[in-house]
Amino acid sequence: MKHYLSINDIDSLPDWVDEAITLKKNPYQFQHLGRQKTICLLFFNNSLRTRLSTQKAAMYLGMEVMVMNFGAEGWALEYEDGTIMDQGTSEHIREAAQVVSQFCDIIAIRAFAKLEDKIKDEAEEVLTGFAKHASIPIVNMESSVAHPLQALADAITLNKHNTKLKPKVVLSWAPHPKALPHAVANSFVEMMQKQDAEFVITHPEGYELNPEITKGCQIEYDQEKALENADFVYVKNWSSYSKYGQVLRQDTDWMMTQKKLGNAKFMHCLPVRRNVVVEDAVLDGNQSLVIEQANNRIFSVQVVLKKILEAL
Ligand code: CP
Repeated sequence: MKHYLSINDIDSLPDWVDEAITLKKNPYQFQHLGRQKTICLLFFNNSLRTRLSTQKAAMYLGMEVMVMNFGAEGWALEYEDGTIMDQGTSEHIREAAQVVSQFCDIIAIRAFAKLEDKIKDEAEEVLTGFAKHASIPIVNMESSVAHPLQALADAITLNKHNTKLKPKVVLSWAPHPKALPHAVANSFVEMMQKQDAEFVITHPEGYELNPEITKGCQIEYDQEKALENADFVYVKNWSSYSKYGQVLRQDTDWMMTQKKLGNAKFMHCLPVRRNVVVEDAVLDGNQSLVIEQANNRIFSVQVVLKKILEAL
């Protein structure tokens, strides 16, 4: 495998999940693979889990790690070809990607959607710019439209707690004061399309995700109906896709509560706003899987890095 840019780079989800579970039991087993290899983590946005889990996974594989908060510390990058760079940008992606490629063996990148221009966000200029101009593998640590490391960690978590042949999994929208990107929800949907499950997406009207991504998925606007007999409830906020980047409603009707959750397991990628997205009782209760999901971030990225290192 060269790059890990989306869930579609996974050739067999069950095999990758099994491999992650094996790594979790003996994480130092492949320490030789990363000897004298370096990963460079470039952050254009904030992070807690992605940064530390990727560092930890790289350390388990014996790699050196370099981290740069590119958004705050790097030169403002230009992505357009043929531009006269007499405005705000100082360095072109063509040079930047080639330069970073000389300093390490893998580049991992986090660059969120700006939610101002759908076409620009969907072009994924940072991720695809590096993938095009770097000479080494690229890992997506959450881009404008995808968070495939999170979705793989979610698959590992589902696998551990599932007791049924075909569990019911519900992705439920939740309110949030800020406009958030669609990346986590998109990749969760793409991952669920590779699972044997009854999968339902529920959200208020106007919060439909990209229809190309949700094609074939069951969408239910009545949250109570969607949650009936759920085994897993994955809660996430995202802003409107059709009215791109807008927050259409902020009322607490859609917040996840213990009553709504019933006997289902609760999932969220974190960070989460308590008593806005989900009430305390759910997060602090024993049906919550959120801390385990965060732990599984180590093993999802470790599988990805292992596969890239094996192919170098
Ligand atoms: N879930 C997730 O990606 O967490 P961070 O934004 O803290 O990395």
